[in-house]
Amino acid sequence: MLRSYVRLIPALAITGAIVYSILQLEGPFTIQLVIPSGINVSYPQPQIQYVPQQQVVPEYQAPLQRKLPSYPPHQKPILDAIAAFNGYEETARRFIAKKDSKYAKANPRQQAMMRDIGYEAHFDRAQKEITVNAQLVRDIVAYGQDLYGVRAGDEDGLDENYGIVDEALGHLVRDWSDFGVTERSQIFPPILKALQEHLGHDGKKKILLPGFGLGRLAHEVAEIKDYQVTANDLDYNGILSYHYVLNRTKELFDHQFYPFNLDWTQQLFTNTRFQGVKFPDYKPSPHSRANVKLMEGDFMEVFAPEEYIEKYDAVVSLFFIDVGENVVDFLEMIHRVLKPGGIWINLGPLKWGGFAHMQLSAEEVLQVADKIGFDVNHDSRQSIETQYARQPHSLIKFVYGMSFVILAFD
Ligand SMILES: C[S@@+](CC[C@H](N)C(=O)[O-])C[C@H]1O[C@@H](n2cnc3c(N)ncnc32)[C@H](O)[C@@H]1O
Repeated sequence: MLRSYVRLIPALAITGAIVYSILQLEGPFTIQLVIPSGINVSYPQPQIQYVPQQQVVPEYQAPLQRKLPSYPPHQKPILDAIAAFNGYEETARRFIAKKDSKYAKANPRQQAMMRDIGYEAHFDRAQKEITVNAQLVRDIVAYGQDLYGVRAGDEDGLDENYGIVDEALGHLVRDWSDFGVTERSQIFPPILKALQEHLGHDGKKKILLPGFGLGRLAHEVAEIKDYQVTANDLDYNGILSYHYVLNRTKELFDHQFYPFNLDWTQQLFTNTRFQGVKFPDYKPSPHSRANVKLMEGDFMEVFAPEEYIEKYDAVVSLFFIDVGENVVDFLEMIHRVLKPGGIWINLGPLKWGGFAHMQLSAEEVLQVADKIGFDVNHDSRQSIETQYARQPHSLIKFVYGMSFVILAFD
């Protein structure tokens, strides 16, 4: 046992150096390095017992067939997303081919060893899984083209951005599969609880969720009686995936894909990289479907018209306020759309991109909120540690330390 730890020392030193350099770059999150202990490492169970509001819906709802009116004004972002999805298969195959060509440099004796332990079979397995993933991506695109009335080929010549496809597929795992239960159970219950505590249940309540991602939280909020959710996002790789989940699902766990099959580093177990993930693990009830309205586009533009001033009883921002260029713009917009007496619930890290005009601390965000006119409920402040759309068995875990806070507007 001691010898196997000694052998781990160089690997830990290199990983430590990588972790250190990431910390230098990114700042406000912590990284936990998980060291294999020889003890069976199982998928961590959620600490909070988390029961989705509605697990099974008796009737399959007819697919949403209307052509959304936002096309063609949003044509370019939709086409960008389709171009990115279309590039998935080629990029993924190139990725595996590159690993294969590196492997070809190992000597024959080493390759025989690799064959013995089953390593060589990974290339074939990954390629087969890419075929399945590529079909899913084609299905998402086909449904999106139908929904938005986009002609196939209109996206020709646009850039293929693999990163945003990878992000959308990761979100699919986090929001719509039971692989995401742990992450969701850490962050959804405090939000759902705070909303109900503050808004109560006397009459209809309007809740705005900017940056809704793939929509799971929006639908869980809309399961609550009389709660009407307006969701907003500008990323069509996420939006098209969301439409697909919502409207191309007959039964729970109808779809399967292999989101980890290109991740060969930081693997504790041999086969977890090839794990299939089924989705969805939850089907929104008819009530929830009827009470989530998606408004596509930039939060700052979509809600700028006067009709949105003082329209919402609550705004919920989850992993959102740090994604834009100008956080003060976001905070002022949130304040503007809230009704007097309304609440803003924020949960998220402060992982400002290099493009951010200001990179504020949590204290500074609250000071700015105070200046804008929010009344910060200091009793509501909590720190929550969670991961975000991560592979459960990865040896390296990015744990976001997030602050949770409720701000009321008088
Ligand atoms: C880190 S993700 C979080 C998504 C979701 N809230 C969740 O927790 O899964 C940030 C989301 O904000 C969206 N977003 C970024 N800038 C936006 C903007 N200006 N207007 C609307 N959505 C935006 C992104 O497309 C992305 O879906």
